[in-house]
Amino acid sequence: MSFTIAIDGPAAAGKGTLAQALSAHFGFAYLDTGLLYRAVGAGVIAGGDPVAVAQALDPSDLNADTLRTQAVAEAASRVAVIPDVRAALVAFQRSFARRDGGAVLDGRDIGTVICPDADVKLFVTASAEIRADRRFAELTAKGVQTDLAAILDEVRARDDRDQNRAEAPLIAAADATLIDTTSMTAAEALAQAITIVTAKR
Ligand code: C5P
Repeated sequence: MSFTIAIDGPAAAGKGTLAQALSAHFGFAYLDTGLLYRAVGAGVIAGGDPVAVAQALDPSDLNADTLRTQAVAEAASRVAVIPDVRAALVAFQRSFARRDGGAVLDGRDIGTVICPDADVKLFVTASAEIRADRRFAELTAKGVQTDLAAILDEVRARDDRDQNRAEAPLIAAADATLIDTTSMTAAEALAQAITIVTAKR
């Protein structure tokens, strides 16, 4: 039996942390769909054509570590506006979602486009300032020297591009449950999500 949890929301809202914790709690597989767009962005930085890179991508062979830079995130949000790039990534995501044993997918368009029939849809958000603070703390903890104002600018630019593109814009599905993590801990967000999922199982 498949059971799909779709989690969408803007950059650094806590989706990834929540999705991973939920998948561990319920024993479901987890797919960070942002990595697919990041891989295409990295391919374009390396000189490739976005659509050709997307069509040739092997989504089961992505190196998350090298794809987590700000430059790759920026490139990802640029290629993500291209309809043929998005189209090339749909089949893999849908088959992942339908696997036996349950799946959690996080991204921007999972509840709206990839899995409109998901069993549970969550829209995870937080203020841009809090999201920039969290990203700053994360990078600082990793020893990366960065600037909070620059991160806030980058978060806002990415939100703007993700929300205003014509194809699969970032928007909460009408039937999604909103989780605003602005003044929540990760544990509080997880507890809320577990309650929502449990009610639907
Ligand atoms: O989630 P993450 O920050 O890794 O995503 C990088 C970029 O990929 C996003 O800013 C967005 O433009 C794009 N993306 C998307 N649809 C998804 C996941 C990510 O357009 N389902």
